[in-house]
Amino acid sequence: MSDDVFKKLVSHCKEYGFVFPSSEIYDGLGAVYDYGQLGVELKNNIKKYWWDSMVLLHENVVGIDSAIFMHPTIWKASGHVDAFNDPLIDNKDSKKRYRADVLIEELMAKYDDKIEKEVEKARKKFGDSFDETVFKETNQRVLENVAKRNEIHNRFVKALNDSDLVELKAIIEDYEVVCPVSGTKNWTDVRQFNLMFSTEMGSTADGALKIYLRPETAQGIFVNYLNVQKTGRMKIPFGIAQIGKAFRNEIVARQFIFRMREFEQMEMQFFIRPGSEMEWFEKWKNIRIKWHKALGFPERKYRFHDHDKLAHYANAATDIEFEMPFGFKEVEGIHSRTDFDLSQHEKFCGKKLQYFDPELNQSYTPYVIETSIGVDRMFLSMIAASYCEEEVGSDDKKDTRVVLKLPAVLAPIKLAVLPLVKKDGMPEKAREIINNLKFEFNCQYDEKDSIGKRYRRQDAIGTPFCVTIDHTTLEDNTVTIRYRDTMMQERINISDLQSIIGEQVSMKNLFRKIME
Ligand code: GAP
Repeated sequence: MSDDVFKKLVSHCKEYGFVFPSSEIYDGLGAVYDYGQLGVELKNNIKKYWWDSMVLLHENVVGIDSAIFMHPTIWKASGHVDAFNDPLIDNKDSKKRYRADVLIEELMAKYDDKIEKEVEKARKKFGDSFDETVFKETNQRVLENVAKRNEIHNRFVKALNDSDLVELKAIIEDYEVVCPVSGTKNWTDVRQFNLMFSTEMGSTADGALKIYLRPETAQGIFVNYLNVQKTGRMKIPFGIAQIGKAFRNEIVARQFIFRMREFEQMEMQFFIRPGSEMEWFEKWKNIRIKWHKALGFPERKYRFHDHDKLAHYANAATDIEFEMPFGFKEVEGIHSRTDFDLSQHEKFCGKKLQYFDPELNQSYTPYVIETSIGVDRMFLSMIAASYCEEEVGSDDKKDTRVVLKLPAVLAPIKLAVLPLVKKDGMPEKAREIINNLKFEFNCQYDEKDSIGKRYRRQDAIGTPFCVTIDHTTLEDNTVTIRYRDTMMQERINISDLQSIIGEQVSMKNLFRKIME
């Protein structure tokens, strides 16, 4: 998808009440966004899909809702005060600031693109007889680009693991990375920058406490793990799920709601016996990818990306990436966090956080597998994958419709009820239908403009079903139901609406796929 299409997505989100720039009447606030009347419905549906898939499908997973403000020592213990940094570099001419690691990743992506272009060119040239593996192993240009890419990759991984900021700058200089704004290579040194926002609690007179806005919801789970285990009589293995806001002072905050300074996470920490982490890591990888794929988008839009550099707390980590308009990007992280967090909290709070395992007759600090997904990234991936512009109509009257082919379970409005005309008792009949269905489905009434225009409006917001009331309805209680994706229409009894729509918008079918 091109930049143009991405721009269209952003303006579509604004035009139809999905996402607005925050504080817009004051010219906005960098990388902060508000969700509008339809955006909040889509977001809530995403959260419900995640929450129910965790706590309904797994009897050993329960939820909590912990405070955003937490004792500041938590962030010392978790390593965020000392190590939650991004390596920054400034271009002296444009005065623009970049993440050094992002510049290097983009550099590697350029080599990937070059390789891909060579392969595509050869595929076109050789047609059916093309053998990609042989081509990649023998083509000189591909081999050179692969070698360069690997060289950068190896230096990059080593520099990250050694926290070697001088080497990060050296890579940028050696490969002549230029600032996209000034076009120059006039770089500062690379420095570390802590991403946590801080504020003060209490008045300064009595010695205010410096506290942080949480950069992840996970720590709220760790510090409550024993409360939940004891009060819920939970036995290992068990999980604790939480949805909530997180805050990061991101340097490179671009790409709309992909990277924001205030965002929302859906995280689940799964507490397990030490030594069983690889088995559970694989199990959760499998469950989580099924959760994504159950939504029905093509499989090729998803891939796993194993981390080159493990976070300070992890002994295995992978991302689930989705093909966004700007390439494959992380939507969810799955991490084997070992006993790092609980052990650190034991050290810093001076209390035992161990679990007594009755089967083993011994106490231990549990290991943890974490699944962590950003609500906003999930939202963006759904909008991007659903947005279509389609040519419709016949030769003499061609038209383009913009349609959001959202999975019906996530659509903000499930059903639009449209009286053909604003008279003859049709509006009243439409209201009667809504009154019967509104307890179950989010319904919208619309009587303005021609029926064609009303269909287009519903297509643009992703409403899977439109129901039209006409003169025949008043005679025999039948309506026309129109399906968003196929635009097919059929006549059905009003009494069948509930079951037809209910079957399509129920999360049950998706949950079955996850549990298969
Ligand atoms: N507790 C682990 C953790 O926070 P992470 O990979 O830093 O791990 C998890 O974040 C998820 O949160 C990411 O996969 C992404 O979906 C989302 N996320 C992280 N930073 C974000 C940001 N600035 N804006 C939007 N979403 C973000």
